[in-house]
Amino acid sequence: MREFILYSRKGRTDAHFSNIRDAGRLDVVHECIVASLFLSHGIRRNTVFHAFLCGPPSPPLHMKIDGATIRDVRTDQQTWIEIFRKVLSGKSHPGITVEKRSFESLLRELSSNADVFVLEEGGKDVFDVDFGEHPVFVLGDHIGLPRKVEGFALRYGEKISLGKQPYLAASCITILNYILDRIETGKPLERRE
Ligand SMILES: C[S@@+](CC[C@H](N)C(=O)[O-])C[C@H]1O[C@@H](n2cnc3c(N)ncnc32)[C@H](O)[C@@H]1O
Repeated sequence: MREFILYSRKGRTDAHFSNIRDAGRLDVVHECIVASLFLSHGIRRNTVFHAFLCGPPSPPLHMKIDGATIRDVRTDQQTWIEIFRKVLSGKSHPGITVEKRSFESLLRELSSNADVFVLEEGGKDVFDVDFGEHPVFVLGDHIGLPRKVEGFALRYGEKISLGKQPYLAASCITILNYILDRIETGKPLERRE
């Protein structure tokens, strides 16, 4: 099982937005959902994506999207604008839950039976990391993780790096999924000196 947590500093916490980008960059949340859960013609049923929306009017909201139960979704942005509006106005969608909950409380719960990894350019090289059976990855949005949030997450896990190149959060997720896919199929990527 794999889990990705995106900390969205400004992600809108109600359905009253006209433009997804101006809604505290919910477009970044959409990109990360696609990178986490979608394969070509399939969904990663072993993966859960979490977004913490910390923008107005009522932060923090925890949006959880479970690959095992998600239904009626496509990858395009318009589909997700409609889903975001639906679930942020209290309506339901299969596989998606929205609750008032803090990042700290979720991470505390997950860390009891998972390994937590905080994505940061200055962390331990990804090639030197043992991901275990159930990795949980914490990522910042377009601005990065707030220092306080990163400090809290590091009580439960370690910082890991994909290299010095700063990538989009969604690209980091794609890279991690690829690395884990290779490990699962018995063909792990190897470091070349
Ligand atoms: C677009 S980046 C944020 C860039 C922001 N300027 C910063 O300094 O954090 C979004 C997130 O992707 C992750 N990230 C980006 N590049 C990375 C790398 N090379 N290694 C590890 N994580 C990375 C981090 O979690 C970061 O918070």
